[in-house]
Amino acid sequence: MDALIDKAARIILGSKLTIALTGAGISVESGIPDFRSKGGLWDRFDPEEYATIYAFKDNPEKVWRMLKEMEQIVDNARPNAAHTGLAELEQMGLLKSVLTQNVDNLHQEAGSRDVIEYHGNSRSLTCLWCNRKYDYKEKKDKYPPRCECGKILKPDVIFFGEAIPSLAMARSSQLASTCQALLIIGTSAVVSPFNILPRQAKQVGATIIEINLEKTVLTDGITDIFLQGKATERVSQVVSAVKALQGA
Ligand code: APR
Repeated sequence: MDALIDKAARIILGSKLTIALTGAGISVESGIPDFRSKGGLWDRFDPEEYATIYAFKDNPEKVWRMLKEMEQIVDNARPNAAHTGLAELEQMGLLKSVLTQNVDNLHQEAGSRDVIEYHGNSRSLTCLWCNRKYDYKEKKDKYPPRCECGKILKPDVIFFGEAIPSLAMARSSQLASTCQALLIIGTSAVVSPFNILPRQAKQVGATIIEINLEKTVLTDGITDIFLQGKATERVSQVVSAVKALQGA
């Protein structure tokens, strides 16, 4: 594994444009369950009943049962060494952007400045009827949270069946098709259109460095360097190896 870590560090140091793509797995060690691992969120809540825009419009109170549980968990979560390691690479000028599927705000709290939120953010709420916006904290003890117009509010996360924010999609595609190295961390890469991005990068000759507890649909196909293990450990090792090579 040390040789692979060293190889990944050299790729990052030699790359003129590196991006990181992240999924729920990067926040598991902060106490937030992922979706598809054993015991993940979709083991307890059927995404068809809780994670589509149709389910939300049909029965918002029911969907808020899951959302409130997640809100509590995210509230208690803090960035872990994987989040801070990516922020450090950005500060060192070695990472351009984080493109995340996560809505937990932990990359921003870790200090990453250029974060593209592909699936929105859970920290703000919008009224689908009168378009008023609220910080989630204003409605934290309300179940379900209502707008002053009386309607139930929706978190600014992207449900299945909703469009990806156009700016996030455009910027992500532009970065994926011009990067020289791509770190992909803690995602099963089964949800599109996010999972098109690593393939776009591969097509332009980028080196794909994957960090995951287990192999994914990408590993044997497009991943160049597979750093199997926990995100906190592998990201910290890569950052340390980069620093050692810089100091060498
Ligand atoms: N370190 C590294 N990888 C981990 C860790 C960890 N500590 N814990 C879990 N993983 C890996 C799992 O092995 C899995 O491959 O993270 C991945 C998480 O995959 P998913 O649960 O499918 O989460 P994600 O890929 O982010 O899902 C994408 O699906 O339901 C939608 O909108 C939701 O944004 C989400 C999207």
